[in-house]
Amino acid sequence: MKDATALPQSLLVLGGTSEIALATARRLIARRARTVWLAGRPSPALDQAAEQLHALGAEVRTVAFDALDPESHEEVLGKVFAEGDIDLVLLAFGILGDQAHDEREPLRAVRVAQTNYTGAVSAGLTAARALQTQGHGSLVVLSAAAGERARRADFIYGSSKAGLDAFAQGLGDALYGTGVHVMVVRPGFVRTRMTADLPAAPLATTPEAVATAVELGLRRGSETVWVPGALRLVMTALRHTPRALFRRLPI
Ligand SMILES: NC(=O)c1ccc[n+]([C@@H]2O[C@H](COP(=O)([O-])OP(=O)(O)OC[C@H]3O[C@@H](n4cnc5c(N)ncnc54)[C@H](OP(=O)(O)O)[C@@H]3O)[C@@H](O)[C@H]2O)c1
Repeated sequence: MKDATALPQSLLVLGGTSEIALATARRLIARRARTVWLAGRPSPALDQAAEQLHALGAEVRTVAFDALDPESHEEVLGKVFAEGDIDLVLLAFGILGDQAHDEREPLRAVRVAQTNYTGAVSAGLTAARALQTQGHGSLVVLSAAAGERARRADFIYGSSKAGLDAFAQGLGDALYGTGVHVMVVRPGFVRTRMTADLPAAPLATTPEAVATAVELGLRRGSETVWVPGALRLVMTALRHTPRALFRRLPI
């Protein structure tokens, strides 16, 4: 069960090697989270992530999970929830893709969409039902500021995040009043392996800053969290910029 400050004692990370998710897990372990499930594609990196969190004092288990195999989601998540209550599900998997390359090879673009959107629809609905059956818990969804308005430079990724974001908002409304809370997190540019090959964007931030914002959002019971917070105003302005001007902006 969550403690009196609304912070979780048990969590399930979908995308168990995500740098943002692991920074969040470290922070929540420091705040007394005791049980962590890392769900992800089996790899040495997943095992190493589990060892590192275990060294911080948590009981950590890994489970095989592939966003691209939605037919398996019910069984995988069912196995985790059958072992005990989960206070927080962190939906953290995602791929950036390579926009120029993916535009030329539509099947690669489809893989971005299937991972970030349809994979999340399946995993999100499955997690939501399990949390609802349990009667409490939070689903935290790593969306992205990129989904607020798709740019020429990354509209395949951006559109997948727009879909994910709209889905997660609707799911939050569907679960309102049930005891299950959905929080949509919209980071801007975060320095992780996902962005390692890209030049830093304005207002670039860190996985630790996202983790801090997630903790604050949980304490407040927020529905939407921007990281950094200033992005909310920036993206509101960009969202309302006329197309003819927007497409000329160097962003
Ligand atoms: N970094 C940023 O600038 C930024 C900004 C806004 C939002 N976000 C979002 O934040 C989330 C975490 O990103 P991150 O920066 O922490 O990147 P990351 O370290 O590259 O993490 C991405 C995670 O997605 C997992 N994944 C990819 N495809 C998968 C699949 N088919 N099945 C299961 N897991 C899969 C990866 O697992 P493997 O180890 O198996 O590859 C990894 O755990 C993503 O949804 C991302 O879109 C990131």
